[in-house]
Amino acid sequence: MWTIRHEQQTDAPAIERLVDLGFGPGRFAKTAYRLREGVAADQRLSFVAEGEKRALLGSVRFWPVRIGQSLCLLLGPLAVEPKLRGRGIGIGLMQHGIEEGKALAYEAIVLVGDEPYYAKVGFTRLPPERVRFPGPVDPNRVLGLGLKPNALVSLAGEVTRAQIDAPVSAQTTRLG
Ligand SMILES: CC(C)(COP(=O)(O)OP(=O)(O)OC[C@H]1O[C@@H](n2cnc3c(N)ncnc32)[C@H](O)[C@@H]1OP(=O)(O)O)[C@@H](O)C(=O)NCCC(=O)NCCS
Repeated sequence: MWTIRHEQQTDAPAIERLVDLGFGPGRFAKTAYRLREGVAADQRLSFVAEGEKRALLGSVRFWPVRIGQSLCLLLGPLAVEPKLRGRGIGIGLMQHGIEEGKALAYEAIVLVGDEPYYAKVGFTRLPPERVRFPGPVDPNRVLGLGLKPNALVSLAGEVTRAQIDAPVSAQTTRLG
């Protein structure tokens, strides 16, 4: 049994541990991290999965970015406790974030990752060179998901950092 709730400040050390287990110290050199430097994740879309005795089992965050003129989100990091992978926690966290994101002003979500996995929640590969990251990325791993009708059709341009002025919303929970 696990639940999804909003991330809280006190979750930070446990999330850092999970992300470190999932991606290792080399993650800071990745292009996606350039887009997170000096920018906060949108707290309204930062969720954790919690198990028994309040154990933190997974985390997902979304970062505001601009793609051309469009306000979008960069998904990640998404990390799940190694011993509890394959139980739907990663997909559950993403689906929750995607649904909540649809109610906000964002046009689309992009990420750099494994298409077979992210296709399970609706991501598709973007046409090469349409969306350009500020550093090297494998074009086969550049994926997108529209939050508004036809948002992916016109999505094009450089991915750049975006600041938003978002309030921290109240905690919500749901059964996973
Ligand atoms: C990737 C990760 C978040 C998946 O979390 P999870 O809770 O185990 O995933 P879920 O249980 O929701 O989904 C499991 C399904 O996805 C599949 N899957 C998991 N990782 C996959 C991958 N990289 N590529 C393709 N399929 C993958 C599993 O085979 C399983 O498929 P099935 O349901 O058909 O059996 C987790 O393995 C993790 O934290 N990895 C380290 C960090 C990482 O790699 N993050 C993503 C970067 S691309």
